[in-house]
Amino acid sequence: MKKIIVANWKMNPESSSVAQKIIREMKSFARRSKNDIVICPPFSYLYILEKSKKPFLGAQDVSLQTGGAFTGEVGIQMLKSLGVSYVIVGHSERRALGETDGDVSKKAALALKEKIRPIVCIGEKERTVKGDHWSVIERMLRASLFEVKKNVASKIIVAYEPIWAIGDKSKGAMEYSDIHESVLFIRKILSSLYDQKIANSIPILYGGSVDLVNARDIIKEGGVTGLLIGRQSIKVDQFKKILNSISSV
Ligand code: PGA
Repeated sequence: MKKIIVANWKMNPESSSVAQKIIREMKSFARRSKNDIVICPPFSYLYILEKSKKPFLGAQDVSLQTGGAFTGEVGIQMLKSLGVSYVIVGHSERRALGETDGDVSKKAALALKEKIRPIVCIGEKERTVKGDHWSVIERMLRASLFEVKKNVASKIIVAYEPIWAIGDKSKGAMEYSDIHESVLFIRKILSSLYDQKIANSIPILYGGSVDLVNARDIIKEGGVTGLLIGRQSIKVDQFKKILNSISSV
């Protein structure tokens, strides 16, 4: 089955010449890949991959506003005009800046209206032995999809990213069996929100300290449809190695 691998560059790199270099290298590589590779650079570098399909172009966020006097905002129509096909919504680093589940669900619905696939991020801050994280995940998922209607639900992508596993100060990637358990849980909720068939068609990605050592097993044993990769996605050689390692999973 085709995998979706999303590169979340976050606020990197510092210059457009470096961004162009990475993209040049990724383009020749992505052309040969049978998986869907999505590069999400900062807004300022989106033009470099304008209308690209191999790799696909993704954005890291979108405004809740669709136009007008909103200094600093970037709207869905702007993304559409650049040929953006995916947009990350509700990344924990944006939620930490005040984005709510309600905002996330509105952004997802806005994107779907323009035929841009939203990558809806959810994930708990911590896990406890009592298992409080399950209700956190459920509440977050339901609220983040509140505005996403059944007729378009199969176009969303869910990225499960436990916050405690993200970044270089984190505890590292989640155990494969725990990822698998979370995927089943998320699918069950999607099924109750929509129906079984739609739930099965929605790709579920894992994100949080994915690297060359764990990428293949996260897909194989974690049962995910793809990966959302931060740090390792701007190191071109490393990212290519990861993509090669999962090419036959
Ligand atoms: P990481 O980030 O791969 O650097 O942990 C993942 C993410 O935040 O999407």
